[in-house]
Amino acid sequence: MDALHWVTSPSVTEPPQEIYCQTRDIVQAKVESVRMNLLQHGWDESTSSLIVAVLGELTSNAFDHNLGQWPDVPGCWFETTIDPHRFVAIIADRGQGVRSSLQRVRPGINDHEALRIAFTEHITGRAPEKRGNGLKFVINALREFPKTNLTFQSGDALLSFHGQMNPEDATLEIINVQTSLRGVVSKIELTQL
Ligand SMILES: Nc1ncnc2c1ncn2[C@@H]1O[C@H](COP(=O)(O)OP(=O)(O)OP(=O)(O)O)[C@@H](O)[C@H]1O
Ligand SMILES: [Mg+2]
Repeated sequence: MDALHWVTSPSVTEPPQEIYCQTRDIVQAKVESVRMNLLQHGWDESTSSLIVAVLGELTSNAFDHNLGQWPDVPGCWFETTIDPHRFVAIIADRGQGVRSSLQRVRPGINDHEALRIAFTEHITGRAPEKRGNGLKFVINALREFPKTNLTFQSGDALLSFHGQMNPEDATLEIINVQTSLRGVVSKIELTQL
């Protein structure tokens, strides 16, 4: 089973045990252990910290925006691959999704608009709390890498952010896809020289 199958599956199943994080505590511990793993694979301290911070934002969101209202399986999918020059993380949840959570502050938006707002505006589904920085931080952090690739799907909107060598050339685009999903599936792929 991969993350996309898990999130779109009509039957309610938990992800494989080594990938499933039912609570925030569990995922926080796993995110923290990524730091050690990166260092052991030769990634430097500041890069490792940046990756850990990015993973912290994406995994926090799964819990922050679904508190007490998980439709079925609570928690998130958290899967990483760590090599000396390549890092991959897949984070997914079967929660309410971005459109539904932003609906409260922006009624009537569709999935496509919801992703654009979530990644570009300092606005939050938890207004009036002063928040809404996480995903903007993620994009800026990913600009630091010589080669970076992020995909993030919620509903029928799929955002991708690609960057190579020159941070100014990095592009963010959102398209509509055929298979809609309720929660979020995100994947980050980073390469260091
Ligand atoms: N996994 C998710 N499930 C549902 N909604 C999400 C998810 N991730 C992000 N969102 C929506 O996107 C908005 C923007 O996310 P972002 O992380 O930038 O800000 P925030 O989580 O509200 O605040 P902060 O990250 O600064 O604490 C959120 O307010 C929420 O409405
Ligand atoms: Mg957040």
